[in-house]
Amino acid sequence: MSSSRVAIASSIAVATSTLAGALLWADYRAWKNKGTGGTPSTLAGYYKIQKWGLYLLFHPQDLHDPSFIPDGGPSYLSEFPEREFERPGLTRWVLPQRQQRVSQTQGTQESLSTILPSLANSDAYKDLIYTGPSKTEGGTGTAIYVRPEVPTINPKAKAIFYEIAHVHPSDSSLHVYLSPRDARVVVEKKWGERFSVDWIAPKSWVLVYAPRNATEVEVIREIVEAGIKFAVEGGKEN
Ligand SMILES: *[C@@H]1O[C@H](CO)[C@@H](O)[C@H](O)[C@H]1NC(C)=O
Repeated sequence: MSSSRVAIASSIAVATSTLAGALLWADYRAWKNKGTGGTPSTLAGYYKIQKWGLYLLFHPQDLHDPSFIPDGGPSYLSEFPEREFERPGLTRWVLPQRQQRVSQTQGTQESLSTILPSLANSDAYKDLIYTGPSKTEGGTGTAIYVRPEVPTINPKAKAIFYEIAHVHPSDSSLHVYLSPRDARVVVEKKWGERFSVDWIAPKSWVLVYAPRNATEVEVIREIVEAGIKFAVEGGKEN
């Protein structure tokens, strides 16, 4: 190559990598601004989620397919409707797993935020579960936990610090740890989908979509209650 060609080639290379770097930096800022999640909002955290994102790009998973969740085991969900209309899309990052915002009728957000505390304070569950900052979300947002001294506790819940569920303030979606059978039903009936990075959580840890109105809040309350029962009684089987 002549020296002028080398000069052109190298300035193209510099321009391309500068542009790529700028785009990556902008993407990092946007991700960081989204705020909360289990991965720290730092460059190291961003590097980790991008690495997983790249892996998943080449090993795409259908998060709407319930068949990846093992079948069988107990079920704690009763009669269960199918959720209406399309599933919401997810944000572009693999973690934290968040959905696109949906419009909610007035009061939906408030009633959603009462689900976890009201179950934790109820006579049925107050001796079995408690609320606390979400460990799987790095301490952001409120979660419910099964008390470790419950004799029939599901021992597998230890993998996620005995956390049962938490709500995401940014988009009103939730993560809930369900029995595998119930998780399949929730995914099948379009109330949620599988966790994006399924090697860091149990297979039946699912994203539950944000409720759009009061009726949907009630369905979500039932889903969360099924999660509580699995955490509290899931050890009976073992
Ligand atoms: C809530 O939303 C669902 C689905 O959009 C709809 O079928 C239902 O009628 C709504 N319920 C109320 C009380 O608005």
